[in-house]
Amino acid sequence: AGLPGLQLCAAAALLPLLLLCLPLRGCADEHEHTYQDKEEVVLWMNTVGPYHNRQETYKYFSLPFCVEKIKIKIKISHYHETLGEALQGVELEFSGLDIKFKEDVMQTTYCEIDLDNGRRDAFVYAIKNHYWYQMYIDDLPICGIVGEADKNGEDYYLWTYKKLEIGYNGNRIVDVNLTSEGKVKLVPNTKIQMSYSVKWKKPDVKFEDRFDKYLDPSFFQHRIHWFSIFNSFMMVIFLVGLVSMILMRTLRKDYARYSKEEEMDDTDRDLGDKYGSEVADMIELDNRAAQRETQKEGAAFVAAALKEAVSPFLKRPVKEKSKRRYNCGKGGHFQAQCQTPRKQNW
Ligand SMILES: *[C@@H]1O[C@H](CO)[C@@H](O)[C@H](O)[C@H]1NC(C)=O
Repeated sequence: AGLPGLQLCAAAALLPLLLLCLPLRGCADEHEHTYQDKEEVVLWMNTVGPYHNRQETYKYFSLPFCVEKIKIKIKISHYHETLGEALQGVELEFSGLDIKFKEDVMQTTYCEIDLDNGRRDAFVYAIKNHYWYQMYIDDLPICGIVGEADKNGEDYYLWTYKKLEIGYNGNRIVDVNLTSEGKVKLVPNTKIQMSYSVKWKKPDVKFEDRFDKYLDPSFFQHRIHWFSIFNSFMMVIFLVGLVSMILMRTLRKDYARYSKEEEMDDTDRDLGDKYGSEVADMIELDNRAAQRETQKEGAAFVAAALKEAVSPFLKRPVKEKSKRRYNCGKGGHFQAQCQTPRKQNW
């Protein structure tokens, strides 16, 4: 009876693992990066966010891009989710664009945005903050900007036409370029048509080198963060200073004692052999007494400091005894408590 139970348990534990592996083995195209002619190539939408803060990202479809059903294609044959992508926080969503390997697509409308006031405001906000979006084709990243404002900052325009140029080499994809065209002014209560086109090219790029263009420093414009470096440097200096100060404070007394002992050793030697040991004993005794004295002094000092610190809280307002409310020769008495007759000199 124990064995089937064990097997069941093992199966339950292995099932998620199997599920993880299945998509990897099942769909050879995207993960092997080879395609047959007219095979489906999936354009994945990743995130959208402000250009000047790369950490701030939202799902692509959090902007009202194509809230209506994407007209061309609703289903795809598989979903793209590997463990690595899940760990990277990539949020891929199917774009809905119909792309087939080595098949050109003329400019085609894939959805229509019904631009009401709310949606217009969302787009205007995105354009004002220089939102850009990221997509992937066959693991190659593609970036585009959402829109543009005119120079006065009054009119806002949306790029509506995604012009994709995909380079292939044999049965693999080696290069992707995106050009945004079709600037359309955002006017409330109008319809905006989103369109795309695909052109397949045969550039002279090897599959192994297809990521080289992303490693080119001019592509990303890596800037050196001087302020950040300066900041870290100052922090290091400050911390080193702090630690050394604490160390010095704790070690100062030890240093003093050691140097004292060294001096004594010297005098010890000077006194010669005869009296040497006697004197040394005396000095030793003296030393110990001094040490005890220092300890006592230290304790007294700490006690005094504590008392000083605590005293404001312990002090109660002291009544002035000298003030007499009723005179019967005793300080601070009331008449009711003081039955003796009043003194004459009051
Ligand atoms: C993409 O653009 C680069 C630079 O303009 C160009 O060299 C390359 O051939 C283009 N690739 C495709 C597939 O059009």
